[in-house]
Amino acid sequence: MKTLVIVAHSNINQSNVNQAWMNRLKEEDQVTVHELYKEYPEGRINVEKEQTLLLEHDRVVFQFPFYWYSSPALLKEWQDVVLTYGWAYGAQGTKLHGKEFMLAISTGGPAEAYQAGGYNHYSMSELTKPFQAMANLTGMRFLPTFALQGVRILTDEQLQASAEALVDAVTN
Ligand SMILES: Cc1cc2nc3c(=O)[nH]c(=O)nc-3n(C[C@H](O)[C@H](O)[C@H](O)COP(=O)(O)O)c2cc1C
Repeated sequence: MKTLVIVAHSNINQSNVNQAWMNRLKEEDQVTVHELYKEYPEGRINVEKEQTLLLEHDRVVFQFPFYWYSSPALLKEWQDVVLTYGWAYGAQGTKLHGKEFMLAISTGGPAEAYQAGGYNHYSMSELTKPFQAMANLTGMRFLPTFALQGVRILTDEQLQASAEALVDAVTN
């Protein structure tokens, strides 16, 4: 099984979590790490190239830091221009059918904040509904989300352990 990990971090040089995750994932033979902001610093996405990449893989992972309860902006742009009618959805748009889809998200807020009664009110499952709906409409099976939360107070050991857990989730 070949997995495409699309990393969307607008400031990867300042990143702690996503950079560590990405570097660990790059060691895996069956994983292609694709850095959106590095590939498209001007924001102009090559649709044909992205669609070809998708076709070459069985599983697609969106990896990003949670920004305002969603993804950094370039990943939304990617969805808007790459997942076209007649290709990704619509009667003839079956190119992604049968693939698997997963989210890998880091959040500053701790896990207990993401529930009714917590200061963010809503669960990660509720807040990621647009991604679930995207997978649904494009015929991809939505796998359980990998989330690392409360990342401001991580030890190096916890960060490395999370990278190993992510590799496990992404490749199994
Ligand atoms: C613009 C911006 C928006 C953010 N929004 C959220 C948010 O909605 N929820 C949250 O838990 N953390 C939020 N954070 C914190 C980031 O999720 C956190 O810094 C990131 O996951 C750490 O990953 P990194 O080390 O790879 O940068 C935000 C950070 C920034 C810069």
